[in-house]
Amino acid sequence: MCGIVGYVGENGCVEVLMEGLGHLEYRGYDSAGLALAAPDTDEIWRVRRVGPLRNLTEALAETNGSLGGVRSGIGHTRWATHGRPTEANAHPHVGAAGNARAEAGRVAVVHNGIVENHAGLRRELESRGHGFVSETDTEVIAHLLSERVEAGEGLREAVAATLGRLTGSFAIAAVSADEPDTIVAARHQSPLIVGLGEGENFLASAVQALVGRTRRFLVVENGEIATITGSKVGITTPDGRPVERDYFEVDWSPEAVELGGYEDYMHKEIHEQPGALARTLSGRLDTEGNLDLSELDLDLTDIDRVVVAACGTAYHAGLLGKTVIERLCRIPVDVEIASEYRYSDPIGDGRTLVVAISQSGETTDTLAAVESARGFGGKVLALTNTRDSLITREADAVLLTHAGPEIAVASTKAFTTQIAAMYLLALGLAEARGTLPEDGRRELGQELRRSPDRVEEALALLEGEDGVSRMRRAVGIFEEARCSLFLGRGVSFPIALEGALKLKEISYLPSEGYPAGEMKHGPIALVDDYCPVVAILGHGVYREKTLSNVEETMARGARVITVAAEGDPEAERVAESTLPLPASALETPELSPLVVCVPLQLLAYHVAKFRGLDVDKPRNLAKSVTVE
Ligand code: F6R
Repeated sequence: MCGIVGYVGENGCVEVLMEGLGHLEYRGYDSAGLALAAPDTDEIWRVRRVGPLRNLTEALAETNGSLGGVRSGIGHTRWATHGRPTEANAHPHVGAAGNARAEAGRVAVVHNGIVENHAGLRRELESRGHGFVSETDTEVIAHLLSERVEAGEGLREAVAATLGRLTGSFAIAAVSADEPDTIVAARHQSPLIVGLGEGENFLASAVQALVGRTRRFLVVENGEIATITGSKVGITTPDGRPVERDYFEVDWSPEAVELGGYEDYMHKEIHEQPGALARTLSGRLDTEGNLDLSELDLDLTDIDRVVVAACGTAYHAGLLGKTVIERLCRIPVDVEIASEYRYSDPIGDGRTLVVAISQSGETTDTLAAVESARGFGGKVLALTNTRDSLITREADAVLLTHAGPEIAVASTKAFTTQIAAMYLLALGLAEARGTLPEDGRRELGQELRRSPDRVEEALALLEGEDGVSRMRRAVGIFEEARCSLFLGRGVSFPIALEGALKLKEISYLPSEGYPAGEMKHGPIALVDDYCPVVAILGHGVYREKTLSNVEETMARGARVITVAAEGDPEAERVAESTLPLPASALETPELSPLVVCVPLQLLAYHVAKFRGLDVDKPRNLAKSVTVE
């Protein structure tokens, strides 16, 4: 969703801002803009454009380099919430008391989040003569700030006073023509970090924006105000008391956010899975399969129930976690959609472990679910890919996945590493509860350590000559499809859900994930020539039962694609195309999802590419959902 970048310094403000917004593009946006403060004018210069960033780049090109002297500025990518994606609604917003049609102003602001009391504030400001030019909630902040600055307050004081008027969630950054070498920023429940440089400093809503510019960052906490100049960063409480804050370092290299020869980030990230898994398991499982989760600082013996709260793909990782934890640890697990859980008056106590899964660590509903768990005294474990994200600060313990930055909106490597982390947790709980003998735990641990190799082998098989022609046939089946069904049972059911989600989000083809046995109770009505069925054939009883379910769809004209071990004759018999996996990858059924999801990711990718769609930035979607 929306992204914020800020810069103060003398090393090319506009370039830094545009580069930062470029790095945030993956989050999803529909318009973008900059506000720049130049020392020799008494107005903030502003430019905004609807559509891709290149439209903003073109508008900037028309200034013929006249912006070289700019020393501070703020930039924003907007994902519309209040008001359509128009230029008037794009950020930054300016406000000027008594000036009904201010196009430039003395104060400009960018904002992520939602100002819930904007309607009342707007009425109040209008009654004092402020004219509004947008439909946004943000514009009230611009007017509140400019009113104070015009009355002679400094920008920091104006921001502090304005914060007290706002309810909702927000991260804001403001510049004023009176203080052209300063940015003032603040936040409440939306993320904001300051990047530290030499003779220059940065601001962003996510670390990714500043990769390649700096590795040192400061977190701005809820309610704090950051005042940033080229030589200094001051963090204070709203009443002006200075706050000491240690910086943290991020070791992401610029290459981590570049395509590196791939056509799209999604394809790159699918191929990064072996490395991402290896990093996530490293230091937590030794070569003998012994587990070390001492980093958790949680007493896993003192737990009698687990609740997983998450959204989207992370929810699917939670569903898989339930199957595995219940099987290995004999402890009840509930998996909750975070947006529902937060309002459900949830039940629990101090022996309930609430696992909040979130790649970004900033999904609003997942954060609210954590708050609900806090309400009943539950222990909160954050399972996230983002160090120092909001969720890590609300949790008792953190289990980081080390997938590296995920840029494509459709999650791939974050999902597999979330699954891997859930296996680690399952092993930890099994150990603490004594539900699995040591030998069994070690064996599973060793096999888990092999999963990066298994995924590597699966990729090689799927992208070898035979794999490519099978994938082409599978994509051909989708050529005239109007919908599709993904079927799986046991541990393959959450993977069927994830396969369907992947396909629908990037190819816009209605797709349902279903437990194969449940399909007869409704979705079988969808089956015809134009509704391909993708079936994951598991092991043992699940394999036999799933095959029978597939036969039932064939009898009704379904065109079938199977995901199965290479050379599985039954899988070949029932399908027009089988997406093959190395047999070794399926030998430990509990762990098979780590590999089974790979052909489904590739299937979604190739179907979307075949349809000529932008796989990295599917329509209407945002990478991090930071509003309710
Ligand atoms: C789908 C996808 C989303 C996210 C969901 C939660 O491919 O990426 O469904 O999984 O928005 O996001 P996080 O994990 O950041 O909380």
